[in-house]
Amino acid sequence: MFNADKFINESVLNLKKEITGKALIAFSGGVDSTVCATLVNKAIGKKLVAVHVDTGYMRKNESKEVKKLMDKIGLNYHFIDASEEFYKDLKGVIDPEKKRKIIGEKFIRIFEKVAIKEKIKFLVQGTIAPDWIESGGELRDTIKSHHNVGGLPEEMNLLLVEPLRDLYKDEVRKIAREFKLPVAERQPFPGPGLAIRIIGEATKERAEIVREACDIVEKEIEDASKKGLMEIPWQYFAVLIPVKSVGVQGDRRAYGYVISVRAVHSIDAMTCAYSIIPHEILDRISTQITNKMKDKVNRVVYDITNKPPSTVEWE
Ligand code: XMP
Repeated sequence: MFNADKFINESVLNLKKEITGKALIAFSGGVDSTVCATLVNKAIGKKLVAVHVDTGYMRKNESKEVKKLMDKIGLNYHFIDASEEFYKDLKGVIDPEKKRKIIGEKFIRIFEKVAIKEKIKFLVQGTIAPDWIESGGELRDTIKSHHNVGGLPEEMNLLLVEPLRDLYKDEVRKIAREFKLPVAERQPFPGPGLAIRIIGEATKERAEIVREACDIVEKEIEDASKKGLMEIPWQYFAVLIPVKSVGVQGDRRAYGYVISVRAVHSIDAMTCAYSIIPHEILDRISTQITNKMKDKVNRVVYDITNKPPSTVEWE
């Protein structure tokens, strides 16, 4: 049985010994990076420099909340809004792995600048076991490249520190609860963010649509689970399918995108089963999305595939 308190104490002692200079962490505000930053902050304090990048593919109000969280933990941090740059670099890019590569490289360039300025020696990553297993770390083919800042240590001679490397998500959540972090129950969110929830070109316009749709899906599902109408899924979000279909708005012909609702149950993201969302909730989600984005979305569908054969994210 995993003991969070014991893990924290042992890790802090080890990290104090291991990290002998300044360290950098990419802080997304997700459970993994928040737990990792809190742990390392406990070990080395202000020698840890956290960096949050607003890529333009974050969820609604997410970067604002992340800033508040970094203040609450007492981190020494840089907050960088690079959204317009990210939209520009992803212009015309359709292939999912190319998107990941471009986003990953952009992250690296941003972190590199901070690392040079701050004379960083160590790179802390909140990698957990499924990340490296699925990135081809074992005897598996690479399904998706989940590492987003993997190139930084090689290029800059930074020493990699991965305190959560052997843990699974449920164990990381236990540590988050032990630290009383408000993100303990937060659903996982991929490093490339909403860019991989927009099939094909991840334009600013599409990012704004999927951001709004994700917000509606999150609020409705959280509300329904609070009321006991359904179990809270492991992950629940919206995906923009860049296919336009014909609809009707008032007495006008409309031609808009399709949004797919995705909600899954899982233990460790290695496999998952789609969640059963009551029809009344699906109906509320569909009505709100199509009302709020009248000229942009006129069809909402519900993804009922498990992993395998699909994956959690569509890209
Ligand atoms: P898939 O889609 O591979 O997702 O079934 C498994 C888990 O990983 C997350 N995911 C990512 N996380 N960078 C990340 O940091 C990525 O490129 C990435 N792709 C998928 C996904 O949200 C799910 O929790």
